[in-house]
Amino acid sequence: MPPPRAGAVTVAFRSRDGHVIKCLSMELKGLILSGGEGTRLRPITHTRAKQLVPVANKPILFYGLEALREAGIEEIGIIVGDTEEEIREAVGDGSQWGVKVTYIRQEAPLGLAHAVLTAADFLGETPFVMYLGDNLIKEGIVGFVDEFRGKQVDALILLAHVAEPQRFGVARLDGDKVVGLVEKPKDPPSDLALVGAYMFRPVILEASRAIKPSWRNELEITDAIQHLIDEGYHVEAHVIRGWWKDTGHLEDLLEANCMVLEDLEPLCAGTVDEESRILGRVVVEEGAEVIRSTLRGPSMVGKGSRIVDSYVGPFTSIYYGVTVEGSELEHSIVMENSTIRNIPGRIEDSLIGKNVEIARSFDRPKTFRFMLGDNSRVGLI
Ligand code: G1P
Repeated sequence: MPPPRAGAVTVAFRSRDGHVIKCLSMELKGLILSGGEGTRLRPITHTRAKQLVPVANKPILFYGLEALREAGIEEIGIIVGDTEEEIREAVGDGSQWGVKVTYIRQEAPLGLAHAVLTAADFLGETPFVMYLGDNLIKEGIVGFVDEFRGKQVDALILLAHVAEPQRFGVARLDGDKVVGLVEKPKDPPSDLALVGAYMFRPVILEASRAIKPSWRNELEITDAIQHLIDEGYHVEAHVIRGWWKDTGHLEDLLEANCMVLEDLEPLCAGTVDEESRILGRVVVEEGAEVIRSTLRGPSMVGKGSRIVDSYVGPFTSIYYGVTVEGSELEHSIVMENSTIRNIPGRIEDSLIGKNVEIARSFDRPKTFRFMLGDNSRVGLI
């Protein structure tokens, strides 16, 4: 049999007694889940898909697309929900990444296994890699996908040691073997969380049809994989070594931002005046201006943003069209076209949405004046 092509997976068809009767080389497909509502990131997600929130000035979803492309996957289905339009606008037909994107509408966020079932027509009989659109995996998935291509396993899952396993799907191992999986257990059997990248053969569709909704009324992929195990299918797990982040919460998002910024290559494509200081690894993108300010890396100033009489500290990324004037900022993400002006204390650990204005007012009476969206959080000193 010729070796599989890059991007292809070898599928063996066996007779009842286990003999291989036919081998076919099939392209692997990709399935990115981008239909979730992002309730844990409100109010940002009232007006933006959580998968499009920028981490180091790039929408989170793009990291997933890149990871699949790097793994040689060219046909990608994206599961979308209410934010379909925004996602379509950002990703287009996928040609920017050299992939072909098909959008698949999920009528409601009813779980990851429900998303797999929604994609049944797209997936057909092809093995696939499922990638959660809000996950970031530092080492990428090339090694795991290659291994899956060469192996006769029904599912290959990735695990990571985490501090709070009760927030994730959790695996119980016996040696290298997965013996049990449970979604968000109150009493976790281990600290090994399921990472948001899974490799499946089509039998996962059958398993997804066989399970019942969980306590949160979702068809859990964790339960579908457990079903495979119960039915005697071959499920393998790998513990990843590098960092991994599910960016569903503010703290995780800021941490993901730090982790990506750690590897920043300095670049100055904008203008920095002589009175400004750039310390460490800083990116000043095209058309950005830095005036009488100090920027300490790793940090980024996006296209057309202006930093005037300010300090931008480490682990901060400022997206495009932002104005920061007379203010100090650190360990934060500021989204497009926002303005921060004359703030007397340093802003830290913050996620600031698009078109936001935070400004000190010198008007009388001296009062705080807010217009905040639902679920906003403000910390005053
Ligand atoms: C989902 C899965 C969970 C997995 C996590 C990884 O959780 O259900 O098993 O550990 O993604 O990001 P959710 O984001 O739906 O809470």
